[in-house]
Amino acid sequence: MEDQRITKVVVLGGGTAGWMSASYLGKVLGPAVQITVLEAPSVPKIGIGEATVPNLHKTFFDFLGFAEEEWMRECNASYKMGIRFVNWRTDGTGEADARPFGDSIDHYYHLFGLLPNHGNLPLSHHWTYKKLNGQTSEPFDYACYREPPVMDKKLSPRFADGTKWTNYAWHFDANLVADFLRRFAVNKQGAVHVEDVMTEALIDHRGYVTGLRTKSGAVIEGDLFVDCSGFRGLLINQAMKEPFLDMSDHLLNDSAVATQVPHDDEANGVEPYTSAIAMSSGWTWKIPMLGRFGTGYVFSSRFQSRDDATLEFCRLWGLDPETQPLNQIKFRVGRNRRTWVKNVVSIGLSSCFLEPLESTGIYFIYAALFQLAKHFPDKRFDQILIDRFNAEIETMFDDSRDFIQAHFSFAPRNDTPFWRACKDLVLADDITEKIKMYRVGLAVNMPSTDESTYYANFEVEFRNFWNNSNYYCIFAGLNFLPDHPLPALAARPEEVESAEPVFDQIKRTQEKLISTLPSTYDYLKSLHGA
Ligand code: FDA
Repeated sequence: MEDQRITKVVVLGGGTAGWMSASYLGKVLGPAVQITVLEAPSVPKIGIGEATVPNLHKTFFDFLGFAEEEWMRECNASYKMGIRFVNWRTDGTGEADARPFGDSIDHYYHLFGLLPNHGNLPLSHHWTYKKLNGQTSEPFDYACYREPPVMDKKLSPRFADGTKWTNYAWHFDANLVADFLRRFAVNKQGAVHVEDVMTEALIDHRGYVTGLRTKSGAVIEGDLFVDCSGFRGLLINQAMKEPFLDMSDHLLNDSAVATQVPHDDEANGVEPYTSAIAMSSGWTWKIPMLGRFGTGYVFSSRFQSRDDATLEFCRLWGLDPETQPLNQIKFRVGRNRRTWVKNVVSIGLSSCFLEPLESTGIYFIYAALFQLAKHFPDKRFDQILIDRFNAEIETMFDDSRDFIQAHFSFAPRNDTPFWRACKDLVLADDITEKIKMYRVGLAVNMPSTDESTYYANFEVEFRNFWNNSNYYCIFAGLNFLPDHPLPALAARPEEVESAEPVFDQIKRTQEKLISTLPSTYDYLKSLHGA
C-alpha cells in the first residue's frame, strides 16, 4: 500500500503561534516529519499576548518536557491567580484605583479553579441562598474562594519552600516566549528556520497548496501548511479564500493602544493578577512582570477616536503621549468560517481573535494544536478529520465569545454611548439559555470532575472550559444575581446551614495563608535570581 504519511509540514509565520506550532508538532510528530518555519523578519509580529490561563503549563510546556521554573526564567514570567475587574460597576473615565462602591470599592476577582461542592451543589448556590435571604453581605469571591485576601496583599501562589497551594496562570514577555520556542524547535527538534518573505502560495488543480514561493525565489514544498501569518491570514483567507466571519455584532472593541510601564517592585510589590480596568469606551489590561507592567486600552473605534483613547489611556498611568512609545493596534473580531481547509490549517491570529479580556489568545493556539494532533491527517486528508477539528474550534471560539460578551451585557454601567450600546447587542441562543438557567438558580456547565483533576485532563477541561465557577465569578461580581435560590435547595434550608463549616474553613484558610505566604515579589526575585 502506498505510504500516505505526511513528511513535510510548513509553518508560515514566526510569531507566538508559529513557534508554538513548530515546537508542539515537532514533539507530536517526531523526527520523521520535517518542519519548516518561514518567517519574514521585515513583517513584525504582534509582540503582545502576555496573560494566560492555568492549563498552559500542563497542556503545552510540560508536554514539551519543560519544568515550570525553566521556561518561567527564560520568559520573565510572573504569576497570575486570576483577573481583577476594576470599576465595571461605577461610572467614569479610566482610573487605575477602584472607585468607592457602596461601603466597599468597585472591584471583584475572576478566580481560577473550581468551587468546592457541598452536598450536590457548588458553594456558589449556598452563597446565593444566603445573599438573597439577607444572611450575608460578603461578596461572592471573598466568601467562596481562599485567594482574594491573599491577592489583595500581593502574596505568592507558592509558599517560601516552593509548595504550590492554588491553581494559577502566568504573565510573560511574548517576544521572549517566541525566541525561547524558536531555539527549542530549531536546536533541539531540528526544525528548519527560513527568514524570507512569502510572495505566493502555489496551488494544484485540486485546490491544495503545494509550496510557498519566497521573495528570494525559493519554493518551500510541503504536505500540510500551518498558517500562522497573523491577522493577514495569508494562506487561509487569501490563498484558500476562506471567509472570515466578522463578529463585531457581538463584541464592539476593535482597537488597542498598548505600552510598557517601568515599575518599582521593591516599593510597591508585584500584583499576582491581571487587572481589567473599565474605561469610557472599553477596558485597559495591566499585566505585571518583574520590573515593569504591560498595559493596553482595548476600545471601540465606533465610540472613541484613537486620539481620545490614547489621551484617556495616558492619563490613566500619568504618561506623556508625546514621548511614550505607544503601539497602536487594529484587530479583527471573529473567526474563519472553517479553520482548516484542504491542507491549510490556520492557528493564532490568522484563525480567530477576540479581545483579550479573558486571556484566550494563547489558549486558543495550544487548544488548536491539541486538536490538530488528535485529528492529524495523512495525505488522504479524510474530510471527517477536518470537519471534526473545525467543529471543535468553532465551539471553543463561540463559547468564549459569548462568555466575554456577557461581561459587557451585564455590567451595570450605562454612562457612555459605548456602555449603553453593549446592552443593545443580541446574545446568541446558547448563552441566552445559560442565563435562563442561572436566573432560576441552576448551575451553568457543572464540571464533570473536581478541582483535583480538572487541570490534569485537558480533554475534560476543553469540553467545559467556562463552567459554573466562571459564570458565577463574573455575574455575581457584576451584581447580577439569580432571581431566586435554586428551588431544590430553598426547600431544604438545613442543607444551607450545614454548609456553614465550609465557609468558616475558607475564612480560617485565608487567615493562615496571609500569615505564612511570602510576597509575590520576594518569591519571583528568588525564582529569577534577580
Ligand atoms: P503574529 O502577528 O505575532 O505573527 C505573524 C507572523 O507571520 C510574523 O512572524 C510575521 O513575520 C509572519 N509573516 C507575515 N507575513 C509574512 C510573509 N509574507 N512571509 C513570511 N512571514 C510572514 N493573547 C493572550 O493569550 N493573552 C493576552 O493577554 C493577549 N493580549 C493581546 C492583546 C492584543 C491587543 C492583541 C491584538 C492580541 C493579544 N493576544 C493575547 C493574542 C496574542 O497576541 C496572539 O494570539 C499571539 O501573539 C499569536 O500571534 P500570531 O503568531 O498568530 O501572529
